Amino acid sequence: MNRVVVGLQWGDEGKGKVVTYLSRYHDFVVRFSGGANAGHTVNYGDFKMVHHLMPSADFSRNVGVAIGSGVLLDPDVFSQEHRELFDKFPGYSGKILISENAHVVLDLHKRFDEMVDQLLRIGTTKRGIGPATADRAMRVSVRLADIDDPEKMKTLLEKNLSLKKMYGLSAELNEIVRRLEGFYQSFREHIVPVLQLKRILEEKSLLFEGTQGVLLDVDVGTYPYVTSTSCSSAGVSAGMGFPVKVDEVVGVFKAYTTRVGEGPFPTELKGKEGELLRETGREYGATTGRPRRCGWLDLPLLKYAIEVAGVDVLVMTKADVLVGFEKVKVCVKYKGEGELLSLKGLERKEPVYETFDGWKSLEDERFARFVSFIEKETGKKIKYVSTGEKVGDMLEV
Ligand code: IMP
Ligand code: MG
Repeated sequence: MNRVVVGLQWGDEGKGKVVTYLSRYHDFVVRFSGGANAGHTVNYGDFKMVHHLMPSADFSRNVGVAIGSGVLLDPDVFSQEHRELFDKFPGYSGKILISENAHVVLDLHKRFDEMVDQLLRIGTTKRGIGPATADRAMRVSVRLADIDDPEKMKTLLEKNLSLKKMYGLSAELNEIVRRLEGFYQSFREHIVPVLQLKRILEEKSLLFEGTQGVLLDVDVGTYPYVTSTSCSSAGVSAGMGFPVKVDEVVGVFKAYTTRVGEGPFPTELKGKEGELLRETGREYGATTGRPRRCGWLDLPLLKYAIEVAGVDVLVMTKADVLVGFEKVKVCVKYKGEGELLSLKGLERKEPVYETFDGWKSLEDERFARFVSFIEKETGKKIKYVSTGEKVGDMLEV
């Protein structure tokens, strides 16, 4: 049985924790898009791991991990997380597979990201994801497979560097080659042809780990304030490069909303209330450390994301953060508007709120009322409620 976990807001819904928890029911956790812009924090109790590239499998249970062709692979980040994995779990015996068609992210991409974002002001994570995606589309990017073919790799890099020159950027070709070859040598046993990956995974039960969230998806998100890749369930087959049957789409959302970077956010709280959410929920970016913008739950956007991603069941996270809040608000619609079919003009929408009594604990009946209200509004069952930071803090309902 295959599942995909997708974020239903602007990322940071707690997918890392949810995926790690659910991974006990699967053989492999598979990343299909995005790259080290993701920051999935997993709290094992004694320590935390922040996964940027390494899939969030429960390593204590030896669940395997795989990285598909659609992932933009930063060799330095991957090496570092691979080291951390064996530091924390020296006996880990799960399989680690990487598609040889995955493209690499270079330092050059990160520098370009910095430079371009000064002008475009999207508020990217500066992990080079947009520029690497652009290079892939321009056909001047290097895949892992190309590293094993030095002439081809050099030709691609020469073309790439001539294009970058137009933007006033330069890099040392031999230095790039040296680093890529070093990476390839270290990980060659894990780098597999796409058909081999397909055959291995076909036999297994897979948990696809979405990154970012539906509202940051390049096709259906708040463009241009989005990431450059697909973050929704629709991206799974494209990201793997072969059709994948997904039996269940699990949508993860926070009991309130956060966003990092620029772009519309109708329920954003700019004053003290926003600060309270940020401090209570410790809402600081796992990748960049930036304070996250905070606001109330937005049902029109949640319903949009659920439908566009074909969500089957929901997981609510961070409702524990709201314990002790006297009142909790939910945006139930936008002023003067019916159902939200498009994100067009989102920056001009005005939320209409319904106010709920806050809850004293997650066993509180007032919390149960909040849960049923969301289930009724979305028409989807909330199958799990995350009750705290640690992997095991999950309530199946
Ligand atoms: P990029 O993906 O670094 O190009 O950034 C584009 C937009 O997506 C920016 O608003 C980022 O803050 C946002 N973003 C990218 N990755 C994440 C994530 O993992 N969590 C939350 N926001 C993200
Ligand atoms: Mg995150």
